[in-house]
Amino acid sequence: MVIICPHCQHEHTIDERKLPANVTTVRCKTCKKLFEIDKQNQSQSDTAPPDEKTGPRKIAVTLSKGGVGKTTTAVNLAAGLALSGAKVLLVDTDTQGQSSFMLGVKPKAGLTEFVNDELSLDETMIPVRDRLWLLAGGKSLAGLKRVIDRKDFGGEMTLNEKLSSIDKQFDYVIVDTSPGWDPLIVNVLFYVQDVLTPVSLEVLTLQGLVEFLKSMSSIQKYNKEVALKYILPTFHDKRVKQSNGILSKIEALYGNHVCTPIRYNVRLSEAPAYGQTIFEFAPGSPGAQDYRDLIRKVANNPNLFT
Ligand SMILES: Nc1ncnc2c1ncn2[C@@H]1O[C@H](COP(=O)(O)OP(=O)(O)OP(=O)(O)O)[C@@H](O)[C@H]1O
Ligand SMILES: [Mg+2]
Repeated sequence: MVIICPHCQHEHTIDERKLPANVTTVRCKTCKKLFEIDKQNQSQSDTAPPDEKTGPRKIAVTLSKGGVGKTTTAVNLAAGLALSGAKVLLVDTDTQGQSSFMLGVKPKAGLTEFVNDELSLDETMIPVRDRLWLLAGGKSLAGLKRVIDRKDFGGEMTLNEKLSSIDKQFDYVIVDTSPGWDPLIVNVLFYVQDVLTPVSLEVLTLQGLVEFLKSMSSIQKYNKEVALKYILPTFHDKRVKQSNGILSKIEALYGNHVCTPIRYNVRLSEAPAYGQTIFEFAPGSPGAQDYRDLIRKVANNPNLFT
């Protein structure tokens, strides 16, 4: 079974059969701190295939720092999972609303209208590709944040309550977030189980990651389900010494969480202008190859796209 240390987020794979039945506390080999294990929950592998009973896998693509590749990752991850045969809902919680732009659509309504019960699901959740649906973000989300702020209690569960009522039909829900830290991001962290943080390979981003993980641990006190699952190095340029140095540092600090990096690839920056995913715009590009690799890891299926 896989055990994640709540202190340092390190993932440990242990043989359940060798664990004495009366053992409920273990010591993390990495940070040396003690923590309690919940055998029942831990043994449900994080990469378990989605099913009706447990609902979809819910993954937030988030980091407080701007411009690290969150939206590029959320859109291409969602689109790639849909291409692999899964049913996917992409939720854009950013007032910039760039997921729609990247997918070449201009929805009239989206997440705000759905959460506020202003319009029906059919009018707000739009099909954007085969097996891929979008609840769009945009400026109107500012109003939603105010609604959340005004609630006397339970504001942090607003998104969870609404999305849980419709998400059973999907295999994956991928949530793109805005930069910074606001009530909507807190809401997202009360909804998802897995967190994927794109980390552009710069010193400042590494610092941003440490800060973000501190903020996230304050949420984890209340939502035990949410955990850092994937760290995705982005804008990797092998020719740049700093890029390699920061990658080694991240790998040393976060081990198994670290995914194969997404290389700096100009095709990734060109695709949004055409409203296309990288798989449509440049399927043979390094960017497409790297995102396919991420999708294989997330789906826990090394044979996808082969
Ligand atoms: N691997 C890459 N190589 C080259 N360009 C990239 C790569 N990933 C993303 N980009 C480009 O970098 C810019 C920022 O990416 P993106 O919008 O995905 O970041 P973000 O974290 O969502 O930003 P924000 O915090 O503003 O929401 C975009 O123009 C995007 O096309
Ligand atoms: Mg973005």
